[in-house]
Amino acid sequence: MNFKLKIKEEKNSFEKENKVVWQSPSNIALIKYWGKKEKQIPQNASVSFTLSESYTETEIVYSKKESNNKIEIKFLFEEKDNELFEKKIVKFLNYVLKYFPFLTKLNLTIKSKNSFPHSAGIASSASSMSALALCLCSIEKKHYDSLKTNDTFYRKASFIARLGSGSAARSVFPFAASWGKHADLYNSSNKFASILPFNLHENFKSYNDAILIISKKEKQVSSTAGHNLMKNHPFAKQRYKLANKKLQILLNALQNGDLDGFIEVVEDEALTLHSLMMSSNPGFILIEPNTLAVIEKIRNYRKINNSKLCFTLDAGPNIHLLYPDNEEDSVFEFIKNDLQNYCENRFWISDKIGKGPFEINKQNA
Ligand code: PMV
Repeated sequence: MNFKLKIKEEKNSFEKENKVVWQSPSNIALIKYWGKKEKQIPQNASVSFTLSESYTETEIVYSKKESNNKIEIKFLFEEKDNELFEKKIVKFLNYVLKYFPFLTKLNLTIKSKNSFPHSAGIASSASSMSALALCLCSIEKKHYDSLKTNDTFYRKASFIARLGSGSAARSVFPFAASWGKHADLYNSSNKFASILPFNLHENFKSYNDAILIISKKEKQVSSTAGHNLMKNHPFAKQRYKLANKKLQILLNALQNGDLDGFIEVVEDEALTLHSLMMSSNPGFILIEPNTLAVIEKIRNYRKINNSKLCFTLDAGPNIHLLYPDNEEDSVFEFIKNDLQNYCENRFWISDKIGKGPFEINKQNA
């Protein structure tokens, strides 16, 4: 599939000021993407749950300007100027200009806000890059005779989101998505993510994710640096092989409602991710003493209560507590009475698997 838009006649002119707005969620990887080749091509396939409460809302107001071959934007993050983010976005828009050549013809005012507090230790690149990619695709669709089917629209949005942040590719799809070529996923690609090609088992359709904020501190090592350290990693080859095997096991669990199989593979992945970080050269540690304390508590709780609660970790110290709907009350009690004590300022977010991004304000745009 070629994602480049060939500039031809506009379907609708850019004369009038226009607006697109998208809300797009974060996602939590169950099989992790860790290690990449050039141009954000993953070394192994990954699978994630799309979340619902942790999202970014991005708005682009655009109008025609004299084309001067330059991308010019005004960017506001949570209603305020943010030079650092603005520079990053300009760099990204220049990078994707060949896919959206009309961008140099427009004055762009981009406003973005998150549903979760900034600097809460929650990675926002997946939600923010996917929201931005969806806005760009909406502009293309509105003014040109392209991206007419849902398939082509979301595929390009995922492709563009990936160029901003690999994991963002998965956020444009509802419930559960995969990204990266895998023999068991006929629709899979390294260039964009796809929705899983089967119905999730009932057990997983409303799965919960309580995000326990163990620390709000900025990460010592960025995920870009972490991915790079996989290049000379002594366990890299074995890791990529194993990840693809574990993905196969996870797909079976998701399809058949096998909660125990799910727990085993998801916790294994979380610990593998962090052991890869620790065994990089130089090695680095992103988990905190409280992360380990909570992991031990979760495992004890599961044993004593015959629960299906389990954990996963992102590239950071915070814990994603995954559990089925029928355990909601008891898990809330567990968090409030115990786990919350291990969170910075007792902060946690109750999230769950979600329906994916949506366009706001379509009628006025
Ligand atoms: O999308 P990036 O480059 O921030 O990397 C994400 C890496 C993990 O969150 C650790 C795993 C994943 O698959 O989301």
